[in-house]
Amino acid sequence: MGTRDAVSKAPEDQYTAEPFVPAKARSLNTLREAAAGCRGCPLHRDATQTVFGAGNAHARVMLVGEQPGDMEDREGRPFVGPAGRLLDRALDEAGIDPGDAYVTNAVKHFKFTQAEPRKRRIHKAPSLREMTACGPWLAAELALVEPELIVILGATAGKALLGSSFRVTQVRGTVLEEEIHGRRERLVPTVHPSSVLRADDREAAYRGLVSDLKVAARVLA
Ligand code: URA
Ligand code: SF4
Repeated sequence: MGTRDAVSKAPEDQYTAEPFVPAKARSLNTLREAAAGCRGCPLHRDATQTVFGAGNAHARVMLVGEQPGDMEDREGRPFVGPAGRLLDRALDEAGIDPGDAYVTNAVKHFKFTQAEPRKRRIHKAPSLREMTACGPWLAAELALVEPELIVILGATAGKALLGSSFRVTQVRGTVLEEEIHGRRERLVPTVHPSSVLRADDREAAYRGLVSDLKVAARVLA
């Protein structure tokens, strides 16, 4: 690689939340407060606030989504919008109590495009660099919650946890065992609830989500 390349790529490769993550955080609140000030990548600039994970700190299951959406960005809590409502309904139907879960995202700031100021903000997928930058927060959440099972909601969460070769269509509804940040984890991947809302056949897509979540429920039973 030429010197010029190395220089032009350097700043992006350095994106990381690492210096903002407290070394021996003993509670999720400590992490949450620190994450509010994260400047690990450029996504904090345009978003309203950091949307950290929420839910039961001793949850047996951790659900990992992509990134906060418009409503989550305004409210500061994950999965409070339409995708979250659909997810809660699907969890309930699969026999997983949403109150027993910890819910978070691979990326903690809302990424969007906006044609003009005051116009609707449109979700934009985070880049691999941004996912990697935000990874230390997810690792810290996993280390504290120590869930028995991780439910991967969609491709971004899958790539963030298992690497860029992850394909949700190939592994959805199966139980995976992988070493993640030095811990042996069990994971059940499924589609992202937002993809159900966008599907041509919403009913079939919803059934598919519930059926994958039932696999997760059986692991927890
Ligand atoms: N989609 C996500 O992936 N996460 C949220 O918190 C909301 C919508
Ligand atoms: Fe930090 Fe993640 Fe927000 Fe980037 S997206 S600023 S790494 S919390």
